[in-house]
Amino acid sequence: MTTETNVALLGYGTVGGAVDRLLAASAGDIERATGHRVRVVKALVRDTAKERQVADGAAITTDFAEILDDPSIAVVAEVMGGLEPAGAYVVDLLARGKHVVTANKQLVARRAPELFAAASAGGVQLRFEASVCAAIPVIKVLRESLVVTNVHRVLGIVNGTTNFVLTEMEGGKSYAEALADAQARGYAEADPTDDVSGADAAAKMAILATVAFNTRVPLDDVQYAGITEIDPLDVAAARELEMVVRLVGAARLVDGGYDVRVEPAFVDAQHPLAKVDGAFNAVMLQGDAIREITLAGPGAGGTETASAVIADITSVIGTMGTGFLQNDAAWREVPKLAPGASRSPFYFRLLVDDRPGTLAHVAEGLARHEVSIARLVQHQAGSGATLHVVTHEAPAGALAAALGDLAGLEEVRRASRPIPVVSDRGVAELGWA
Ligand code: NAP
Ligand code: HSE
Repeated sequence: MTTETNVALLGYGTVGGAVDRLLAASAGDIERATGHRVRVVKALVRDTAKERQVADGAAITTDFAEILDDPSIAVVAEVMGGLEPAGAYVVDLLARGKHVVTANKQLVARRAPELFAAASAGGVQLRFEASVCAAIPVIKVLRESLVVTNVHRVLGIVNGTTNFVLTEMEGGKSYAEALADAQARGYAEADPTDDVSGADAAAKMAILATVAFNTRVPLDDVQYAGITEIDPLDVAAARELEMVVRLVGAARLVDGGYDVRVEPAFVDAQHPLAKVDGAFNAVMLQGDAIREITLAGPGAGGTETASAVIADITSVIGTMGTGFLQNDAAWREVPKLAPGASRSPFYFRLLVDDRPGTLAHVAEGLARHEVSIARLVQHQAGSGATLHVVTHEAPAGALAAALGDLAGLEEVRRASRPIPVVSDRGVAELGWA
């Protein structure tokens, strides 16, 4: 017997429109899998005058109450974005006993405790697969497939727009051209500052770390930087060292604490993340029992994200009223790792006077903080020289202190900021020994 199940959308833009069209096209598949005939009956927008290709006769409205007060609507997909009014709408819907599926990473990263409390009080489910890495089912894998795996490291490229921009720039496009192209393709956030500043990736890493480590990782605990500060010199230096620049999200559980960050990194050309091009994302999960699993796929785009929204809707329908997946994933308390304790190999460069003793003083300055050099390349630069340095793994705080000392040496004219290096190969295999 088939059950008619009505769905509403908050938002009918890039993702909302794609959800409507894909649901209409796949309603038969969902019915065969779940016994429910799913139909989008209402969609909330700001402007009803906009031209839209509505797939299956959904009513377009600007009145949220038409969705909240409609008892025939069982599941609502929040695909409008922003913190408010989206947050208040989601809380109201959950309190009214409607299941909610959201693609809104900022909302989930900032307000998960309140939202899950509302879901629990309303006896309904809150799902958020589409909020992280669009089409890649990483939340499902972490919560279901890896439930007993003790995942202790998540490393990934989790923003499609910045990865698209970086790879288009490698092909010769300007930053502005590449970003405009990403916006035209529907990859970027409504305000692309969130993408290029790293804020979008930071929210995704906060969610991933929370689910992977089963502890709340507040967004404020995620240190982030974007791609706006990337210097063409960095891109050129990476190429010379057989690496590429990527915006990398890294979450680690070490020494009883977590460290979660997003920053541009030099990624070894042989590393799986170096091969992630365009708007694709990849997430590498490391855990006790699994060693390493890498998931890769489209990380942005309307139809790609719609696939995850519909997977959540289908999963809710298939498990209505039951299941551990309706609970908040954070059930324990792990502290944030002390600042500066996070370890990595790093790249930095120094513009120095080219005279006897310079290298010795640089090496001494690093050694005083127990930072060891893995690779050093020197280029003449006018009256001085540029030293490109790759270190062995060192605590970020120790390197920052060493660079502070080096900046004070009279031979050192300028020091770049350190950039972490991502590589699975040892220094000998890389030819750095
Ligand atoms: P979008 O194209 O800008 O669409 C937003 C939709 O929400 C529009 O239909 C807009 O109405 C409606 N809306 C916005 N504010 C509203 C308000 N205050 N009241 C009523 N309706 C409102 O955005 P999108 O790219 O589809 O993204 C939507 C969400 O999905 C965001 O949370 C985003 O982070 C997330 N997401 C996007 C992607 C992607 O690749 N695009 C991927 C993963 C997740 P109008 O049409 O009338 O303007
Ligand atoms: N703007 C986001 C990105 C969309 O480019 O990755 C997916 O969340």
